[in-house]
Amino acid sequence: MPIKTYFATGIYVDNLRAQGMKRFNDEILEQCYLVRDTDDEGQEWSADHYLHGYTSYGSITDLHQRFPHFEELAQEIDRHVKRFARKQEWDLQGGRLEMTTCWINIMPTHAAHSLHLHPLSVVSGTYYVAVPKGASSIKFEDPRLSRLMAAPPKIEGAKNQPFVTLDPRPGQVALWESWLRHEVPPNRSPGDRISISFNYDWR
Ligand code: NI
Repeated sequence: MPIKTYFATGIYVDNLRAQGMKRFNDEILEQCYLVRDTDDEGQEWSADHYLHGYTSYGSITDLHQRFPHFEELAQEIDRHVKRFARKQEWDLQGGRLEMTTCWINIMPTHAAHSLHLHPLSVVSGTYYVAVPKGASSIKFEDPRLSRLMAAPPKIEGAKNQPFVTLDPRPGQVALWESWLRHEVPPNRSPGDRISISFNYDWR
């Protein structure tokens, strides 16, 4: 077929680290609940803005500068972001990509996070702490969707769909460019789906 693919959108998923994952993840999980249980401001914010769940998005977004476990997590994620940036062939012109915000999301049954993007940043992503069986995936939208005016629908099983759903496992990190819209559908699992989200800016 004389056709080549251009303008591809990369979504990166990899294990955070090769060894010692279980212990590290267990500690992070404990820390997530500890932060939630002591974050009164965040609990109030979540009651207004994050139905059924808890997020520190409205109260504590500098976890990576506050607590040693999250500092360690950020250092690990830095390596993955560097790989992602190389693959994107970005010329950072002497600057660097730096984690600017980092926050916790605890999503019990029924909690959801509607379609959104992360304005003002370059790379966004999530580290998965707990994804119980049946918990929500993460769903990405084809960035060209608003331009598809008269396009016919895709055949069943087509590789390139207007929405892509990924099921990351605990201990994995996912990265994408911040303009890529994504959502987390309602959690249908009885257990908490726990993740740590972050943004990187070009500094
Ligand atoms: Ni997001």
